[in-house]
Amino acid sequence: MVGSIEKIRAQLTNLGPVEALTLLAELFPGKVIFSTSFGWEDQVISHMIFANKLPIKVFTLETGRLFPETYYVWGRTLERYGENIHAYYPNTEAVERLVSSKGPSSFYESVENRKECCGIRKVEPLNRALAGNDVWITGIRAEQSANRQHMDNLEPDEVHQLIKFHPIYSWSLDEVKAYIKEYNIPYNPLHDKGFPSIGCAPCTRAVREGEDFRAGRWWWEDQSKKECGLHEVSTEQK
Ligand code: ADX
Ligand code: SF4
Repeated sequence: MVGSIEKIRAQLTNLGPVEALTLLAELFPGKVIFSTSFGWEDQVISHMIFANKLPIKVFTLETGRLFPETYYVWGRTLERYGENIHAYYPNTEAVERLVSSKGPSSFYESVENRKECCGIRKVEPLNRALAGNDVWITGIRAEQSANRQHMDNLEPDEVHQLIKFHPIYSWSLDEVKAYIKEYNIPYNPLHDKGFPSIGCAPCTRAVREGEDFRAGRWWWEDQSKKECGLHEVSTEQK
């Protein structure tokens, strides 16, 4: 699977995002899956999938700590497209153990604690969601962070033994916004309040003028530690 990446890369050359998604769905029937956090990049991709009825599964990681605005746009998305979005929840016992022993906000106390919470609420459910699939679609864009500029729109994921594809990897934020406007796609109202990147509520703040896109994510931590484990491998490989 991961070995055939160069052949697939050649086939995707010069294709737009919808054509590329269509081709991947044909090449890997029933084994292409898209993860959405309902941020505006993900809303663009959901629109591409749902409006074109592409046979690509869509899921979200419901960490239990999302913003009310994220639930709002999730609901609007279901209303708009009437398609299924599978919610993966963390293991109940693991969350109970964590919160009972360390309280509800242990992630502020150390990077280790933060990674433990992300491990339970995101990484373990992600592993379940991806199991058995061949292609994982994400809304990652190069512009989002220094780490992400050195990735590729198609890359191997050795941990999950699949191929990752980022269909709007090279898009600018202005292109994302223009697409949302053109198709009147529902989006998270927090984006208009200074939140370019939105994760769990206690771990996301608005950014100030001139700060980078992800400055509001785990803002109390050192810059180099700020990936939550979902995309760690691809960035560390570089
Ligand atoms: S994160 O690693 O820092 O959390 P980020 O918020 O930039 O990632 O999102 C990048 C991509 O990861 C999204 O486009 C989406 O594909 C996936 N993703 C992030 N958070 C979630 C989530 N809660 N549920 C599903 N997918 C997610
Ligand atoms: Fe826990 Fe924060 Fe990670 Fe969400 S982002 S899983 S609340 S540490």
